Amino acid sequence: MTKEKALIAKYNGPISGRTEVPGDKSISHRAVLLSMLSEGKTHIENCLYSDDVLRTVEVSRLLGSQISENDSTLTVDGVGLKGLKKPLDTLNFGNSGTSIRLFMGVLAAQKFESKLTGDRSLIKRPMDRVADPLIRMGANIETTSGRAPINILPTNGLKSINHDLQIPSAQIKSAVLLASLFCSGETIINTKNKSRDHTEIMLKDFSSSIISENNKIHITGGELSSPGIIKVPGDVSSAAFLILATLISKDSELIIENVGLNPTRTGFIEIMKLMGGNIKTVTKDQTKSSEKIGSITITSSNLTGIKVPKHLITAAIDELPLVFLAGACAKGSTIIRNAEELRYKESDRINSMIKTLNQFRITTKEFNDGAIIEGGIITGGNINSFGDHRIAMTALVASCVSEKPIIVENCKNIDTSFPTFKKIMNLIGMNIRAY
Ligand code: S3P
Repeated sequence: MTKEKALIAKYNGPISGRTEVPGDKSISHRAVLLSMLSEGKTHIENCLYSDDVLRTVEVSRLLGSQISENDSTLTVDGVGLKGLKKPLDTLNFGNSGTSIRLFMGVLAAQKFESKLTGDRSLIKRPMDRVADPLIRMGANIETTSGRAPINILPTNGLKSINHDLQIPSAQIKSAVLLASLFCSGETIINTKNKSRDHTEIMLKDFSSSIISENNKIHITGGELSSPGIIKVPGDVSSAAFLILATLISKDSELIIENVGLNPTRTGFIEIMKLMGGNIKTVTKDQTKSSEKIGSITITSSNLTGIKVPKHLITAAIDELPLVFLAGACAKGSTIIRNAEELRYKESDRINSMIKTLNQFRITTKEFNDGAIIEGGIITGGNINSFGDHRIAMTALVASCVSEKPIIVENCKNIDTSFPTFKKIMNLIGMNIRAY
């Protein structure tokens, strides 16, 4: 077991203050990609500089876009839909599932060949779910048994399709939307389960002819034009760690400002409220993006176990490890089902959380699509992050209630989504140090 970048978290006292979290990861990826594909220059304010987003930036540069970083504003010179250059080497997407899948949609439409790969975790994740609809559009994609490395061969043009999205995945939906920009006809995507809609919202901001209504998205290809400036809201998925830390700590109150409140992303807040969490959100107007933004006020609460409603699963998909932890801190049982998608994330998050909670002496029962978690007393102890940033951060948050310190080994991966996690958590009252 590697001790690479181990962290130790100890109970410190109440959580308090007024803070912000860094820019949204999903929105930052899309902002870079659409800026690259559009005509004109775009200034992306509050862009997240995490390892995953920097992969998107690096690949965009390798495809010919000029990008400069200045504090938290990234300036991207768009090359237009016809301006991408053949990359000289294999494109390495590191740990970033969003980057590789969204770029598959763009690269599938090019007249040049590209090779895509990633790290040990990324090459285990399914890519055929993205390749299949793109192949229906006429793309020439060769995967390695449905996974990366992927070889995308040149195409003479893609055709628009009518696609039923069986898996509620924003990454599949976005890859098809990006590919459809290169088609002359209308692509229709039928979505029965609504996944995060940042691509649709941002495509409108880039003047695309996209319409979403009655679980259908209609899009016709054509050039994008830059809105000039985009402001990325704070990441509600990062805010979720602060939210749970406050709810489970005694005598605590926290305000998180300028955070994204897109309803396709706020399932975790809804679930915490159903468990008895005292959380208030207030939205505010902003002009630099069509995304909903606002503040969240959280106070300490006594949580009660619930059966998590099916309709909230997709809107809380990245925060479900925290729902497992909330269940461990709650009175009674918490039931999470319909969440099989968790098995295809940076780690098998159902199994990673079951093992983590069992290590903390919490009773659980594992199902293929979820788990039952019995509320109890978290002892603390030593876990590995399973190479997964969200598991590492969730385990560290458990120190707000654990009897003994919590040591998490292999925490370097936190930099993929929330590089300032330790600093921000310590500022609001936690005690997380290098081990
Ligand atoms: C993301 C979509 C989700 C999410 C991931 C980011 C995105 O994945 O889990 O962290 O930015 O589109 P799926 O599309 O596979 O559900």
